[in-house]
Amino acid sequence: MPHHDDQPGSERLTQALGGRPLRYYDRIGSTNDAARDWALGGAPAGAVVVADEQTSGRGRLARQWLTPPGQAIAFSVVLRPALDPARLQRVTALGGVAVCETLSSYAPREKVGMKWPNDCLIDGRKVCGILAEALWVASRFEAVVLGIGINVRVDFRGTPLADTATSLEDHAMGAVNRAELVAQVLQRVDDWWDKLADPALVAAWRGWLVTLGQQVRIQTGQGVLEGRARDVDEAGALLVIDDGGREHRVLAGDVLSGL
Ligand code: BTN
Repeated sequence: MPHHDDQPGSERLTQALGGRPLRYYDRIGSTNDAARDWALGGAPAGAVVVADEQTSGRGRLARQWLTPPGQAIAFSVVLRPALDPARLQRVTALGGVAVCETLSSYAPREKVGMKWPNDCLIDGRKVCGILAEALWVASRFEAVVLGIGINVRVDFRGTPLADTATSLEDHAMGAVNRAELVAQVLQRVDDWWDKLADPALVAAWRGWLVTLGQQVRIQTGQGVLEGRARDVDEAGALLVIDDGGREHRVLAGDVLSGL
């Protein structure tokens, strides 16, 4: 593939990230695991682990996340100080907002959106996944690891994901530089982290969520719920009105259909 100038590498990243504490790997199991280990070893706030390839990338609900070398980027940032655990869903929202804002500087704004709670989409297909994990030491909430994986030029044609996944370069004007992409997302993560408690964060998230207003089927811990997604609340829960007119508050779940 003619993208020889896009190896993220330590030097390029160090430059793009302007001295932020960084650990770069050509190949690793999962950047979320590496960031967690680093956080336990004292990584400062804002420290980031970046990898060109993941061999056991993880998604929500114990799913696998694919990061093939040279075609995608995986990174995980350590966020401190720890917050109220009830705010963890807001960190997921924060990641989504930071990514959508960045994607919209590459692809047309109207094509970029988010499926609740944390799938970033272009043209209705998933381009990025986000996994926020709390780090507990004994009973103390120490930090949050925010992991982000973006498909940059993964070719999904002929794969089972062809209809549901996409890559940023399929929608961008030209080649995407992954080091710069990571730097842009992290800049926005920093900006929003300072405003985590601000209602502006949920308002921005609401603006990207294509799920709102849709008729949805959601797999929740209690079974499948059907109804219309009305809104999200300040904690990040999805408010769904079922066909009988009753409102349900879903804090975690999987939207099975709706798009
Ligand atoms: C999902 O869509 O279910 C979330 C996918 C999250 C993938 C990212 S890639 C960087 C970080 N490391 C991981 O193992 N997972 C996250």
